[in-house]
Amino acid sequence: MSFIEKSYGQTDPSLVRYAREVFRPDESLFEEIDARTRAAEMPPIHVSPFDGLHLEVLTRAVGARRAVEIGTLAGFSGVSIARALAPEGRLYTFEYDPGHAAVARQTFLEAGLADRVEVLVGPALEKLSEIESAGPFDLVFIDADKANYPAYLEWAEVNLRVGGVVLGDNAFAWGNVVSESPDEDAQGILAFNQRLATGGRFRSTMLPTGEGLAMGVKLR
Ligand SMILES: C[S@@+](CC[C@H](N)C(=O)[O-])C[C@H]1O[C@@H](n2cnc3c(N)ncnc32)[C@H](O)[C@@H]1O
Repeated sequence: MSFIEKSYGQTDPSLVRYAREVFRPDESLFEEIDARTRAAEMPPIHVSPFDGLHLEVLTRAVGARRAVEIGTLAGFSGVSIARALAPEGRLYTFEYDPGHAAVARQTFLEAGLADRVEVLVGPALEKLSEIESAGPFDLVFIDADKANYPAYLEWAEVNLRVGGVVLGDNAFAWGNVVSESPDEDAQGILAFNQRLATGGRFRSTMLPTGEGLAMGVKLR
């Protein structure tokens, strides 16, 4: 599937194939959710199967019990996070579009994760305050409207525990981080990356996935 190879940071197809064959990202789950997405005439803009595996492994590495996702779509990244949570764990995932949220709820149900995932519907910036009493959180994954990435990061700075992890997808803004006239989305991502890297609250890196996965560990 070309989507899988395109979304992996390594560009040599034989090395991508090797990595897929050895590490086996969950392509059947991806295909199932992708089919549900297309049947609902939603945009198939999930993270790739390898990104899903990265999210699962990172969630396990952090020992996350309370996780937040901004941008649910049909639930592929959400399943990747939710199934890696520690016992009694909970994922709060935010989705603007009620149609997307309904499809995602079906995904979580079919994955046997409905009891550990809460889908909150509406603009994330307005809804995030509703879960603050459940924090501090161990992991925040940002994958929604790019212009608001800096605001989501500000929220994560306050609501993550020290040692918690923030992740921002599409951190290369599809190449536009080096554009001479970055659009509004790229400007949001530029500000997010800059704050994450130099704001003093996180030790951060750019994981060189195909689309860039920025990652920071909260220091203070
Ligand atoms: C790239 S998709 C998320 C993909 C998903 N993380 C995955 O990989 O399976 C972005 C989602 O964010 C939602 N979204 C956009 N703006 C939003 C906002 N302000 N608040 C919450 N969700 C938003 C979109 O409706 C869309 O479903």
